[in-house]
Amino acid sequence: LLHTNGKRDLVGKRVLISTGGTQEYLDPVRFIGNPSTGKMGLALAQAALHRGATVTLIHAPITWEVPSGIRAIAVVSAAQMGQAMLECFPDADVIVMAAAVADVKPAEYTPEKLPKKLLPNSLPLEPVPDILAELGQRKQPHQCLIGFAAQTGDIVKPALEKLRNKKLDAIAANPIDKPNSGFGSDTNQAIFLDKQGRQVEIEPCSKLQLAHHLFDFVGNIPRE
Ligand code: CTP
Ligand code: CA
Repeated sequence: LLHTNGKRDLVGKRVLISTGGTQEYLDPVRFIGNPSTGKMGLALAQAALHRGATVTLIHAPITWEVPSGIRAIAVVSAAQMGQAMLECFPDADVIVMAAAVADVKPAEYTPEKLPKKLLPNSLPLEPVPDILAELGQRKQPHQCLIGFAAQTGDIVKPALEKLRNKKLDAIAANPIDKPNSGFGSDTNQAIFLDKQGRQVEIEPCSKLQLAHHLFDFVGNIPRE
């Protein structure tokens, strides 16, 4: 496995990464979630580490072990991830939101397991906070804020809207309907977009290579 491309351009930088799929429990045994495995965020953390950064990884439930050298914070829900991100954000230079945040949560949590015959036919839902948009509001000029957009069909237009609406410096538009990309895969592909209008397409490659391409791309964003 190639962990390094030899670049040490993140020495002295603090990189904050979120990854994995957040979970919103209805009762102790059932949740709303998504198929994210967190491997893209792991690759980003490894790439940043090998480029010399101090790395913090805020992760939703994952099945792999966080490599040594990376500061890990485990969370479950979007609210917990948001709180952890907001706490770490002021100290970070580069922030990558690679987590797949469950967009909604059950309006109510039942602390005792519901027997299936008591499960409702429809489930009242509430939106969870948009963590990345909140970070965009708080962003300082020296900080570089990067999002991911997992999309099907036309990936560029919705990703550009997210870039603008959430006040990001860059976004990785990620086609999840292409073979060997997206959830759970060891490979991925993306179109990187930045707020200056640059657009770079990355052909399918390992998630680690894609992570290095992303740090190469954002290294070239002019600071305001
Ligand atoms: N994101 C977030 N908090 C949320 C939802 C999304 O921080 N509650 C972040 C994701 O981590 C990702 C980016 O926003 O970096 C885009 O996520 P995406 O799901 O593509 O966008 P949404 O704004 O949730 O819009 P939709 O799901 O309707 O496409
Ligand atoms: Ca979403």
